[in-house]
Amino acid sequence: MNEYSLTIRDNRTGREYTVPIENGAIRAMALRDIKVDESDFGLLSYDPGFVNTASTKSSITFIDGEKGILRYRGYPIEQIAEKASFLETAYLIIYGKLPNQKELDQWVHDITHHTMLHENVKKFIEGFRYDAHPMGILISTIAALSTFYPEAKKIKDPEIRKLQIQRLIGKTPTIAAFAYRHMLGLPYVYPDNDLSYTGNFLNMMFKMTELKYEPNPVLERALDVLFILHADHEQNCSATAMRVVGSSQADPYSAAAAAAAALYGPLHGGANEMVLRMLNEIGSVRNIPAYIKRVKAGEIRLMGFGHRVYKNYDPRARIIKNIADQVFEVTGRNPLLDIAIELERIALEDEYFVKRKLYPNVDFYSGIIYQAMGLPVEMFPVLFAIGRMPGWLAQWEELLNDPEQRIARPRQLYVGEAKRDFVPIDQRE
Ligand code: CMC
Repeated sequence: MNEYSLTIRDNRTGREYTVPIENGAIRAMALRDIKVDESDFGLLSYDPGFVNTASTKSSITFIDGEKGILRYRGYPIEQIAEKASFLETAYLIIYGKLPNQKELDQWVHDITHHTMLHENVKKFIEGFRYDAHPMGILISTIAALSTFYPEAKKIKDPEIRKLQIQRLIGKTPTIAAFAYRHMLGLPYVYPDNDLSYTGNFLNMMFKMTELKYEPNPVLERALDVLFILHADHEQNCSATAMRVVGSSQADPYSAAAAAAAALYGPLHGGANEMVLRMLNEIGSVRNIPAYIKRVKAGEIRLMGFGHRVYKNYDPRARIIKNIADQVFEVTGRNPLLDIAIELERIALEDEYFVKRKLYPNVDFYSGIIYQAMGLPVEMFPVLFAIGRMPGWLAQWEELLNDPEQRIARPRQLYVGEAKRDFVPIDQRE
């Protein structure tokens, strides 16, 4: 018997089945042959939240949650964060290889020349209320771009896909910055092609009356690294949304808007905003024990702690902690840092957190850095979305090139009423 197989005995019938094991998994469809009789639909696997279900093979990101390892296309995140730029990382994630100098120059040129928005997009953004959350603006505006580029529907054409990828990476920071300026009632700042991707983003966010905006190189690099750390994280909630919507062959703007919407939730990309709100609510180091007590009683969650995959330290959190020191040298120390450090210290010693393997995740320190840079909490998930866009697009590209992928359509276990007859309204209780 093949040692890479699983023998299943169905105790209802006494029958045995041998199922091949491939890449450490069995095919869920193999379970369908396991039936009580011919009329039986066959066995399903039940997996709410997809905690133990692989929906795809992927070559983009490797995570070993037990060991705290994260690699993009095989390269350790620590090396990429130290040596690469965000656009170089985006190229790597999407195309699977590090670009040579010529390829990188062309890529940077192409992205830079797609940072402008159609003027009607400005009008569209102006339609939002003055206090609209920028993430709501980002999601809707990304979706609206599909109406500006109708050819994006031709998702089987690799050249058309490439162009939309460049547009989405190029335009996301512009939409993000416009959403921010809209919130403040400030005029929009157009892209400056002399600046780097991240330098230009800071320009579009913060330029006031000066003729030329000059980003602080430490903050520019810190934000670039933060984008790198968020660039992909395999089959998380938003990447799955991108793939699910993409699997219906929707255009990439619609799929990316769905991914951004998934990111908006407080358990995903909204967590860094929640961390800041939590630290503000705690307010002082001496209030921490009472707060931890409430967490342990199950009343609230410690935002920025815990991860579905990492059951060791989140390697991104470690890199972010180092960036924090560099940023604070420029901006001055964020007083919330003391609360964060003390919270982390207590949580890492406390049995409740140790037992459940709850460690700081990427969002725990990123918000404190963003705040020190002068960014309001509403922008935090938006920054996450800028960083994650190449990951979503790489996942989408991989999906479309994978002959095994089909429209995503999970099964359910129906546990509702059996057939019953309709009751006219005057006869209902
Ligand atoms: N604070 C307190 N308890 C927690 C926390 C937390 N942050 N996270 C998990 N737990 C407890 C949970 O109550 C449960 O305890 P018990 O077994 O007694 O019921 C146990 O730990 C396992 O939790 P779970 O909800 O089954 O874990 P999950 O894998 O479904 O959830 C998570 C992962 C990230 C949604 C969750 O840890 C959480 O809500 N964290 C806070 C939000 C957060 O920081 N999210 C950002 C994630 S990283 C960025 C990203 O990739 O999006």
